[in-house]
Amino acid sequence: MIKPDGVQRNLVGEIIKRFENKGFTLVGLKMMSVSRELAEKHYDVHKDRPFFGGLVEFIISAPVVATIWEGEGVVAAARKIIGATDPLNAEPGTIRGDFGVSIGRNLIHGSDAIETAQREISLWFSESESLSWEPSLKSWLYE
Ligand code: RTP
Ligand code: MG
Repeated sequence: MIKPDGVQRNLVGEIIKRFENKGFTLVGLKMMSVSRELAEKHYDVHKDRPFFGGLVEFIISAPVVATIWEGEGVVAAARKIIGATDPLNAEPGTIRGDFGVSIGRNLIHGSDAIETAQREISLWFSESESLSWEPSLKSWLYE
């Protein structure tokens, strides 16, 4: 999910490009305003952390872009493409390393495990909004 700061900083194309270029398949995409209810459910795991309130306020403050990506090892690879949570610790070449300076403005959220991704996809998307398709490049991406 490209957070409000990613949208406001005109990085939507840049961020999506990085996942496309890597070889992952875009199977869901929408721009949306996030309800407080969705933001709180999404970040439920952090509800007792001191940053929870501010994080929820931030996520609902302006539109985000939600995406679903498909491909072998996509969850772990996406975490690498995104970089460390604190952009100042994120390696150059990662999204947060290249474009961020602050943990509360780290541009993008990525699911941290397959189970989390499944939970988040069902929270953020209806079934008809997830569109699996067969990339014609597949045999050039996978042995
Ligand atoms: P995300 O869930 O957004 O992909 O990020 P992450 O796994 O790298 O980080 P996580 O530990 O899940 O934290 C979720 C988001 O909360 C904000 N945060 N702020 N002020 C703070 O100390 C603090 N710690 C975390 C960040 O925006 C982080 O992405
Ligand atoms: Mg996380």
